[in-house]
Amino acid sequence: MRSNRMWLILIPILFLISSLATFLPSQQVHRDVPYVPSPYEVVEEMLRLAQLKPSDILYDLGCGDGRIVVEAAKRGIKKAVGIDIDPERIAESWENAKQAKVTNLVEFRQGDLFTADIHDASVVTLYLLTYVNLKLRPKLLSELKPGTRVVSHNYAMDTWRPDQTTTVVVDDSVHTVYFWIIPANITGTWNWNMPIDGKKIDCRLEVDQHFQYFQGRLIIGRDTVIVGETKLEGAKIDFLALLNNRDKKMNLNFTGLADGDRITGTIIVKSNNTEEKIPWRATRDPKTKKPLDTGEGAWR
Ligand SMILES: C[S@@+](CC[C@H](N)C(=O)[O-])C[C@H]1O[C@@H](n2cnc3c(N)ncnc32)[C@H](O)[C@@H]1O
Repeated sequence: MRSNRMWLILIPILFLISSLATFLPSQQVHRDVPYVPSPYEVVEEMLRLAQLKPSDILYDLGCGDGRIVVEAAKRGIKKAVGIDIDPERIAESWENAKQAKVTNLVEFRQGDLFTADIHDASVVTLYLLTYVNLKLRPKLLSELKPGTRVVSHNYAMDTWRPDQTTTVVVDDSVHTVYFWIIPANITGTWNWNMPIDGKKIDCRLEVDQHFQYFQGRLIIGRDTVIVGETKLEGAKIDFLALLNNRDKKMNLNFTGLADGDRITGTIIVKSNNTEEKIPWRATRDPKTKKPLDTGEGAWR
């Protein structure tokens, strides 16, 4: 008798709980950006700008239904990874990968894009919002390898100017696609020595860098030269320096590859109608290195 009365109370409570659960989302997730899929025409343009190669590893941060990941895998890359905070999106992504028969080439991980391990990416795709891009910018610049390509649908990176921008019109609305190459961090002071007139002369390059742009002050022995025509693409460095003092006129063209605190490359030295190619091996004083992005521009 007593247990019957208990059920009379319990059944309406259980019913109320289950009806409430129907109206609530299956799991409460905090999204920094709502789910809006990129139209397939835009996905096509994003992957075209990314210049996919068979050796690429692509990450879509906030992957939605996994369409960018699946389309990248269909083009035959090494691996494509989608990260989304919403488990429903992850389930949809696996379903889409199954239908496209690319499950062996893809991975979908449920998690927060701000804490995801993305170090092995060679291409990163985004369809977020400007303030989310800005919050993410320090992570992209410090964790991704120089040369990694970043493509974003509709939202830019404020003072980090894109290397390329294109537009796609879909159903009368214009979509912008932005493209960047992660630059090596070459900030700070670099030292090496080079032979000039049979003597080894100490050289120092002081670099001030703003993302993929840099300025340099080159000190060769006792002469100071401002470097020009500076170019930084991923880890590839290129610049010119003109030494023009009373005793010496030299045109120096530096090209090299930055790898952490080392640069390896060549210097083409032109002087008095002669041209000589010499090795360039510079090392940085690690204490002089500064972060490319301190995150100060991001809205918190
Ligand atoms: C605008 S949609 C883009 C979907 C897909 N990249 C595309 O272009 O079709 C943004 C996605 O980011 C996810 N998202 C929002 N905040 C996130 C976070 N902090 N970490 C991971 N994913 C997040 C949302 O769930 C949503 O699926």
